[in-house]
Amino acid sequence: MRKKIIAGNWKMNKTVDESAKLATDLVAAVKGQPYAESVDIVVCPTYVALDRVAGIVKGSPVKLGAQDVHFENQGAFTGKVSTDMLKAVGVTYVILGHSEQRTLFGETDENVRKKTAKVLAEGLIPIICVGETLAERDGGITEKVVGIQLRAAYQGLSKDDAAKTVIAYEPVWAIGTGRNATDEQAQAVHKFIRRLLGEIYDAPLAQGIRIQYGGSMKPENAAGLMAQGDVDGGLIGGASLKVDAFLGIIKAA
Ligand code: 13P
Repeated sequence: MRKKIIAGNWKMNKTVDESAKLATDLVAAVKGQPYAESVDIVVCPTYVALDRVAGIVKGSPVKLGAQDVHFENQGAFTGKVSTDMLKAVGVTYVILGHSEQRTLFGETDENVRKKTAKVLAEGLIPIICVGETLAERDGGITEKVVGIQLRAAYQGLSKDDAAKTVIAYEPVWAIGTGRNATDEQAQAVHKFIRRLLGEIYDAPLAQGIRIQYGGSMKPENAAGLMAQGDVDGGLIGGASLKVDAFLGIIKAA
């Protein structure tokens, strides 16, 4: 059985104080709750809030994630942070290849590959994001697009390393639009992703990898999406910024 994983991607939202408040409320809400042990819970604040939030979630079921990282160790890379820096503040997960990074900031498949390898080499867990645009879906090339993104991210990765990864399927047209993929649309792509992992590695490995759905997931649609056989959790944007909504999704998992 794959343990479900619910991760909140706070994106460029909340000051350090606001992040601390949200994390404090979330920790208080899940503390001592049996369901909090049966689901992996992750929050991914902005870089500047990581240190504060780390102190708040420490010792709780809530784990810390970052929204990106650079693949180099240190040096003249203005605006970037390294895996060492993330590890030093207690980060466990790192989101890679988010569609906003890909479409707004020029993130490439090659970079995602390098970052995935680096993150795994440093003992962190990558959440590798893949997904098609509306034009690509309408053009009937969803599997082609997702396949290219996936093959690139896993290129050269050992089986042992691949087994540690988490994938997030985030159809770009569903992100922040209020229009989520239907249960069937999500399941179809998740199933395709698992089949592809089976081709790249083998079926047992593919069966073990968790694939989150992301894109307008909320308490009202979370249970239906996660009832699908290949949907192992969610990567949540908007609904992760409010404790009640995020909790609703955690409970649905
Ligand atoms: P929304 O939940 O706001 O649609 O964002 C999804 C997402 O991009 C999570 O990474």
